[in-house]
Amino acid sequence: MSRTGTDPGLSEVIGYVSDRMAFEPGSYNESYLDRRISARMRRTDCEGYAEYLDVLSTSDDERAALLDALSINVTSFFRNPDVWERLRDVLADLTAAGGTVRCWSAACADGREPYSIAMLARDDPDIRARSVEITATDIDAETLEDARTGVYESTRTTNIGEQLEPLSDPGEHVDIDGDKQSFSVRAPVKRMVSFEQHDLISGTPKRGYDLVLCRNLLIYIDSSYKEPIFETLTAAVDDDGFLTIGKSETLPRSFREEYDPYDRSTHIYRRD
Ligand SMILES: C[S@@+](CC[C@H](N)C(=O)[O-])C[C@H]1O[C@@H](n2cnc3c(N)ncnc32)[C@H](O)[C@@H]1O
Repeated sequence: MSRTGTDPGLSEVIGYVSDRMAFEPGSYNESYLDRRISARMRRTDCEGYAEYLDVLSTSDDERAALLDALSINVTSFFRNPDVWERLRDVLADLTAAGGTVRCWSAACADGREPYSIAMLARDDPDIRARSVEITATDIDAETLEDARTGVYESTRTTNIGEQLEPLSDPGEHVDIDGDKQSFSVRAPVKRMVSFEQHDLISGTPKRGYDLVLCRNLLIYIDSSYKEPIFETLTAAVDDDGFLTIGKSETLPRSFREEYDPYDRSTHIYRRD
């Protein structure tokens, strides 16, 4: 794989990743790939890309470490709580209208985003949880396995209890074990979510959703892939339905006509 204007040393490392490792860098933007590769170079005390390529090609451990660093499945329950405060209103309005409310968490990582929708619906008396159905998709089969298991551990850097604070009664939705270190999503919450593997760039089209969330994927994606992703998302949102993208992500110019801003600061849009 060669990118115009790319440092030749970086190109070689990216080429190696593309040819020899279980990761396809083609759809990610160069600054993202460079940041992750440079972080591994610092950790392995390599002075330049050529030295790092030597390490990478001779060490199984380093290939595993780079693969891990390139994986972009960082997520949390109720990520950006201000967005969830507005989604609370959106879900209350959608369910008040009657009928089934279909939600799609696209690029759902380990499931904390779709489970946040389900828990919020069950927790807030103004939302009719029984009407809510959630499809959750990701390209990564392993992360979907974790999502189906629905068990999340607090660590030194991740406080799951704190992430669940937007709920009035977290204990209704998760079983908490081991001095609040392990959180298992309860069966009624799990039943609201169906997980499925799906690629937003080349996957089969989806239709008929009232609310689509696609957050914190577009920031990593090469700009040439944004258009196909927005085509997929826009085809999936029903008229008057909602699309939420990440707080540091923007609608491509060519799709602005398709939506009205519902809430500018939280990047929630309404389909025209
Ligand atoms: C940073 S996570 C975002 C998780 C969640 N939406 C959030 O905001 O917390 C990005 C996810 O996008 C997934 N992903 C990457 N490329 C994808 C693609 N082409 N189609 C679907 N999912 C993709 C990754 O596997 C990863 O789980």
